[in-house]
Amino acid sequence: MILKEMKNIEKNKVQKKRETFSSGIAVFFATLSSAVGLGNIWKFPSMVGTNGGGAFILVYLVAVLLVSLPVMISEFYIGRRSRRNTVGAFDKLNAPPFFKIVGYLGVISTSLILFFYSAVSGWVYSYLFKAIKGDFKELGSLTMDQATDKITKAFDTTIGGNISPMLWQLIPILFVTIIIIAGVKQGIEKVTKTSMPILFLLIIITCVIALSLDGASQGIDFLLKIDLSTITPSMVLAALGLAFFKLSIGVGTMITYGSYITDDNSMIGNAFKVMLSDTLVSITVGLAIFPAVFTFGLEPTEGPALLFNTIPLVFSRIPFGNLLIIIFFLLTSLAATMSMLSLVEVPVAFLIEEVNIKRKTAVIFIMSITAIVGLLTVHPQSILGNIKVFGLSFFDLFDYISSNILMPVTGLLIIIFVGYFTRKSDIYNELSNNHSLRNKWTIRIFYLLAKYLAPILILIVFLNSLGLLG
Ligand code: TRP
Repeated sequence: MILKEMKNIEKNKVQKKRETFSSGIAVFFATLSSAVGLGNIWKFPSMVGTNGGGAFILVYLVAVLLVSLPVMISEFYIGRRSRRNTVGAFDKLNAPPFFKIVGYLGVISTSLILFFYSAVSGWVYSYLFKAIKGDFKELGSLTMDQATDKITKAFDTTIGGNISPMLWQLIPILFVTIIIIAGVKQGIEKVTKTSMPILFLLIIITCVIALSLDGASQGIDFLLKIDLSTITPSMVLAALGLAFFKLSIGVGTMITYGSYITDDNSMIGNAFKVMLSDTLVSITVGLAIFPAVFTFGLEPTEGPALLFNTIPLVFSRIPFGNLLIIIFFLLTSLAATMSMLSLVEVPVAFLIEEVNIKRKTAVIFIMSITAIVGLLTVHPQSILGNIKVFGLSFFDLFDYISSNILMPVTGLLIIIFVGYFTRKSDIYNELSNNHSLRNKWTIRIFYLLAKYLAPILILIVFLNSLGLLG
C-alpha cells in the first residue's frame, strides 16, 4: 500500500517536471511539422498517381474531414488531459485495461513506419547531395526525352545500389538521434519554427513554375477530374490509411504531442489549422508534380519514383534552377527529419515513462533498432531488400501493415475511448479549457463525429475492403 503511494508520488514528480511547448504558435508548428513530411511531398503524389487522380483526392478529403480530424482532436484530448505517454495516458484516464493496447499498437506502428520512412529520407538526402554536386545541371541542355531517360535511370541507381542506399539511410537516423537527445523544446521547437514557412514558400514557387509548363492543363485535369468508377474498396482503404499517415494520427504521436500542449491552447482550433495546412501543402505539391509528369512524358503511375523524377526535371528548365533544387531537397530533408522526430518520440516517451529508461539510452536503443531493421526495407535490388513476405517487400509490407491496418484500428479504439468511455463533461471541460473558450458548438459537432460517424465509417471501410459487405 505504502509502496503504491510512493510510486504515485514519484509519478507526480515526473509529471511536474514534464516540459510543455512554450506558446500556441509553437504547438501549431510542432504538430504541423510532424504532419507535413514525406507523406505530403512523396507519398501523396505517388498514391494520387497510382490511384487515378481526382477521385482518390476526393475520397481522401472526405476521410480527413470525417475521420482524421475527430481522431486528431481525440488524441490531443487524451494527451493533454493525462500528460502522459500513450500507454500511461489511458491508465491515468482510468480506461479499461484493454485500452493499453492502443499504446502498444502505437509503439509498433511508429517503429514500422520508421523502418521505411528512414529509407525514403535517405533517398531525399542523397538527392540533396546530388543537387549540391551539380548532377542535375546537364538535364537542362538535353532534349526532353533524353532528360527523362537520364533522370529515371538516376533514381534506379540511387535505390538499387548494394550498399549506398543503406549508408544514406543511416544519415537521417543519425541526425534524428542527435536532435532528439537535446530534448523536446530545444530539439523540436527551434528547428520547426524557422524551417516550415520557408518550405511552404518554396513549394508554392515550385508549383507556380510547374503551372507554366506545357503539360500544366493535363496535370490539372488529372487532379481535378473525378471519375467515380475508379473508386474501389481497396482504394478507399488506401485513402483512409493515407489520411491517418499524413496527419500523424492513429499511432499516439498526437497523444504524446498533446501531452506537451499548454493549458490555454485551443486544441480543436489547432487540429483544424494543422489539417487545413497539411492538405494545402499536399494539393500544392500535387499541382507542382503532375504538370511536370505530363510535360516530360512520365507516367502518373510511377509510384515512389514520382517525386524524384519530376522535381529535377522541373528545376532544370528554369533560371536559378540549380540553386532552387538544392533548397528544395534541403527543406524536404528537413521536413522528413522533423516527421521522424515525432515518430521516434512515441517509443522513446514510452520507454522513459513506463520502463524507466533514461532519455538518451531510450533514443539510442530505438534508433539502433531502426538502423538495423530499417535496412531490411531498402529497395528490392539491394542485399536485404530481396526478401519477400506474402509477396511484398519489407518496404511495402511495413507500409501496408501500418497505414492500412494498425493506424485505422488504433484510431478506431482512440475515438471509441473518447466517445464511449469518457465522461461527456470531461470532454467539454478539456476542449473548452474549462469553459474559457466559447466553442460549445464545435465540441458538439466533434462529439457527434467521434461517437457515431467516424467509427462507423472506419468499420465500413474495413469490412468492405475485406469483401464482407458484398
Ligand atoms: N505525417 C508524416 C508525413 O506525412 C509522417 C509521420 C510523422 C507520421 N509522424 C507520424 C505518420 C506518426 C504516422 C504517425 O510524412
